[in-house]
Amino acid sequence: MDEKKQATWGGRFAEEPAERMIRFGESVSFDARLAPYDIRGSKAHARMLGHVGILEAEEVDAICRGLDGVEKEIANGDFTWDPALEDVHMNIEQVLTARVPAAAKLHTARSRNDQIATDMRLWFRDALAELRAAAGTAMSALLDLADANRGVAIPGYTHLQRAQPVSLAHHLLAYVEMFGRDRERLAETARRANVCPLGSGAIAGTTLPIDRAFVARELGFVDEKGEPRLTGNSMDAVADRDLFIEFANNCALIATHLSRIAEDLILWSSREFGFARLPDAYATGSSLMPQKKNPDSLELIRGKCARVMGAVSSLLTLVKGLPLTYNRDLQEDKLPVFEAHALAVDSLLVLEGLVRGLEIEPDACRAAVDDPLLLATDLVDYLVAKKVPFRKAHHYVGELVALAETSRCPLNELPLAEAQTVCPELKKDWTEVFSVPRALAMRERPGMPGPEQIAARLRHWRGLLA
Ligand code: ARG
Repeated sequence: MDEKKQATWGGRFAEEPAERMIRFGESVSFDARLAPYDIRGSKAHARMLGHVGILEAEEVDAICRGLDGVEKEIANGDFTWDPALEDVHMNIEQVLTARVPAAAKLHTARSRNDQIATDMRLWFRDALAELRAAAGTAMSALLDLADANRGVAIPGYTHLQRAQPVSLAHHLLAYVEMFGRDRERLAETARRANVCPLGSGAIAGTTLPIDRAFVARELGFVDEKGEPRLTGNSMDAVADRDLFIEFANNCALIATHLSRIAEDLILWSSREFGFARLPDAYATGSSLMPQKKNPDSLELIRGKCARVMGAVSSLLTLVKGLPLTYNRDLQEDKLPVFEAHALAVDSLLVLEGLVRGLEIEPDACRAAVDDPLLLATDLVDYLVAKKVPFRKAHHYVGELVALAETSRCPLNELPLAEAQTVCPELKKDWTEVFSVPRALAMRERPGMPGPEQIAARLRHWRGLLA
């Protein structure tokens, strides 16, 4: 048997793995990216083994120096990954052992099961920070756009039918709130990821006198007080993937929010709405129709969301039927996680770029919001203020709307005398209701689209993102 190609369990086996099995079983094509985390984990593990007297100080030094060398080679692209060695762990260990004899002791009291769990928790830490930052930049772009167009009002929609006037800023800030919650969720996931599984071994820990707290501290798995955070059950630590699912789910929620704003912006950039003009850098033309400017970037954000959702579904399905503890199925957990992460980060950055180049068309917004029917509800409120019971007021205004429609007259231009035949409580001042600035100015309670509320929310989010 070829010594070099042999996996670490060679002692038990008389036959080499089939070529197609090697191709089927390898994960190094996608887990090689974990190398920096794997090496950090190995160095911490080696130092711990030295700390408890299992390795000599010189052995620890030799292993760490060897790992540094391997890390550099990998970073420079000089490292040859061998699929016959399955994964990132065995590739690194084998090359290291060929150079540093002491590395034959590195895997003492460790299994690839707790090793991959550790690598991924280290990876999650960085990936979550990257996502948080990307969400932050998208939010900043939305804040800037909202701020620059504070005076612009648009119709708010329910059922995609005009409902009530809102400020454009209020609409954009709705998404800022969503991404803000996404960022909170990322922080919570980061807190749960911050627990060290190393020392769980393959399933049942080890008989050797390891110091789990030492490794946890080395790897920064500590709480605010610097106390190490350790997984509490070795079987759970190597078997569960709830963190993977939670992570992908965070990505899916981000992607879903992105998909919704993409849909809104696609509508706004259509000729039918005309509220916004897409930057050329984030639009595409048609190979046939010379006039076309298509919102492909936004459609792709919507499309990629489907793949992120698929990642969550893959992970849930992957785990649901597995008996404890580790099963090789779990090797398939990484691709959906990496994909969900990359798609969510890329989509956030594309949205940011697009929003930064978006031009709002105030005239089109004004024309759309200049629809008296949008203030029918405010007219109900006017009547309620005159002590008309709400249900009755609602009915009155419904009749006025019908009257305006049949007489083909804008609601606010119905002659007072005619309007009073429907609703005697109307006074001369009833048409004052039909002013969008008034409608917004009267909505100055928390969460409403009043200009002061908008200014306060802008300050709130700018402060949070600063
Ligand atoms: N490449 C493996 C994975 O990603 C590492 C753990 C392998 N463990 C095992 N018992 N075969 O899941």
